[in-house]
Amino acid sequence: MKIVITAGPTREKIDPVRYISNNSSGRMGYALATAALDLGHDVTLISGPVAIPVPEKANLIKVVSAAEMAQAVRDHAPDADIVIMCAAVADYRPAHPWDSKLKKMPGKLVLELERTEDILGTLGKNKRPGQMLIGFAAETDDLEANALGKLERKNLDWIAANLVSDGFGTDTNRITLYHRDGKKIPLPSGDKLSVARSMLHEVLP
Ligand code: PMT
Repeated sequence: MKIVITAGPTREKIDPVRYISNNSSGRMGYALATAALDLGHDVTLISGPVAIPVPEKANLIKVVSAAEMAQAVRDHAPDADIVIMCAAVADYRPAHPWDSKLKKMPGKLVLELERTEDILGTLGKNKRPGQMLIGFAAETDDLEANALGKLERKNLDWIAANLVSDGFGTDTNRITLYHRDGKKIPLPSGDKLSVARSMLHEVLP
């Protein structure tokens, strides 16, 4: 099968040297790519800026911003059998990034932010019959309710729910899978590769 996996953070430019980003290490998405390659699948890994080794044989596409990730997903998702959105995509970006390095000035600086594209929401609207769409939910509170809301709103087949304290920027993770038909599957927690293997064991047809 052709599997597209996104991983890592995005960076949203403020000026030539500053950006808004988050603590995603890319490890969960890269572990999913490794697990899928080990099962013999064709993997396209769309990755934000990370500092970890690339799984051998993955078709790696490097991106920086949410807009670049959205474009890469548009290029590769349409003919994928499965899309797994594990990336921690920024929801907001500076509305008017500066072309030159910002200088210190007296008083406060107010940064205006605008929404980025909801890549997963767009995928859900354009899902091909037979295509499987898997999202992630990273939450600090109300994990199950928030994950189920995203599963339905974004027209997903599965959502992998993890607490920020369990999985964001860490070496290990604890994930609960929810299927659109109501099934709930808590996976054994552990290092990200073992969690990725358990996850693919449950979701792959
Ligand atoms: O990278 P690691 O350090 O290994 O950490 C792994 C992880 C915690 C980042 C990963 O397991 C995870 O939870 N990824 C999703 C993080 C996230 O941004 O969750 P969210 O609840 O904000 O977003 C919900 C879903 O919408 C996600 O599938 C996300 O990829 C997607 N999204 C979000 C914003 C956006 N503009 N477009 C999107 O498609």
